[in-house]
Amino acid sequence: MRIAIAGTGYVGLVTGVCLAEKGHNVVCVDTDENKIAWLNLGRSPVFEEGVEELIAKNRDRLTFTTDYRAAYKNSEVTIIAVGTPEKKDGSANLSYVFQAAIQIAKSIERDTVIVIKSTVPIGTGDKIAKIVNDNLCHRVNAEVTANPEFLSQGTAVKNTLNASRIVVGVESEEAERVLREVYRGFDQEMILTDRKSAEMIKYASNDFLALKISYINEIANLCELVDANINDVAYGMGLDPRIGGSFLQAGIGYGGSCFPKDTKALHWLANFHDYEIKTIKAAIEVNENQKLKLIKKSQKYYDSFYGLNVAVLGLTFKPNTDDLRDAPSLQNIPILLDDGAHVKAFDPIGEPNYRKVFPTEVEYCESIEETITDADICFIFTEWGVIKQFDVSKFAQLMKNPIVLDGRNCYDLNQMKGQGVVYESIGRRTIVGKAAHAEFLHPGKLVRGSVVYTHKRA
Ligand code: UDX
Repeated sequence: MRIAIAGTGYVGLVTGVCLAEKGHNVVCVDTDENKIAWLNLGRSPVFEEGVEELIAKNRDRLTFTTDYRAAYKNSEVTIIAVGTPEKKDGSANLSYVFQAAIQIAKSIERDTVIVIKSTVPIGTGDKIAKIVNDNLCHRVNAEVTANPEFLSQGTAVKNTLNASRIVVGVESEEAERVLREVYRGFDQEMILTDRKSAEMIKYASNDFLALKISYINEIANLCELVDANINDVAYGMGLDPRIGGSFLQAGIGYGGSCFPKDTKALHWLANFHDYEIKTIKAAIEVNENQKLKLIKKSQKYYDSFYGLNVAVLGLTFKPNTDDLRDAPSLQNIPILLDDGAHVKAFDPIGEPNYRKVFPTEVEYCESIEETITDADICFIFTEWGVIKQFDVSKFAQLMKNPIVLDGRNCYDLNQMKGQGVVYESIGRRTIVGKAAHAEFLHPGKLVRGSVVYTHKRA
């Protein structure tokens, strides 16, 4: 089939390369000339495993352009995969989606099926159908369908080629026929429903996962108070197939392009209909607090970060992506900087993007060793493999004060025992190694040898 895709972000680009891989002729459209130039060189503007390989493999079936008119004109299927960022009030900003819909309507010269892949509030499909009909320039039929994606960054190609399900919301048999044709090469079950239910499946799924994370984070917080271990608790819970073991990893909260935005958007939508989804509201609040959990823990050791060397390991919202959207590091590092800390940071992939936000304020390091050398405290915000595999004995060897606050439970507690570090994680007991240079005797005071060391702002 001839398929055009509006938007070459994570969703649009991954969808494009995967549909080309399945044999379709795909043209990806973006208004950003740099991105298109980059893609035409075979390079992906986002860090996503497998994308560049699929671009190279499917070059004859895959084109990239800024010329949306030519791209949409004769396409049999046109997919909208542009961003729906959060507005100040928490609702989804649909201006890019509407703009794409108008461009498509004005360009198409044959019957086409418009597929909304962007995450849009329930009822947006109806609005787009109206916008398209109002803007058609030729006497053609344009069916609007909803086809949300469920890909996770870092594993997006795999998630698309082996999707857990294909959800399709259609309002006509013709649209159903075309969507079946698009996904003919895929083995997964296709769930056919109406447009609004398809839109709801996306939000309800994402928000349920966010809820699950906030729930396990609250249980973790309680585990700390009663001296239980969240890893064992989550494992024990997850073995019940009704609960399931995934998305029970406690930490410093969820980030990324979806959960924070989609929880707020559903909450906003419910309010708009004079209803409150209390569970989602709670999930949002828990997450906001959780993101500051390590900073709160650190107050036990230092009254202020002024003049301290602070090591930060991991900047992205999760491993295997260069994406910083709603990453906990973005909330925590400004607090450290405002307080006068000297922040040294390491992230294997996210550094160039972080430099765009903090070009000079943060000192970027090439290795974990370099980052932690002479550090007074170390924060871990992302569980990159290289951080999890780090030789933990080096914390005590290299840090000035070996205090490690781990927001992603990267290390086994037994592994940390006897390493000479103070090690705090989420929902687990604090390890105070026998040979630690620093040991805290009572809250608010850091004791070095026999000298009470309270660090005050100068
Ligand atoms: C998510 C959904 O998984 C995907 O289906 C949807 O289409 C887009 O949003 P993504 O944001 O790429 O994907 O990443 P995901 O792996 O879901 O992680 C999101 C956040 O939750 C990360 O910050 C991660 O650290 C956090 N998380 C995830 C936890 O804190 N604990 C967990 O157990 C799982």
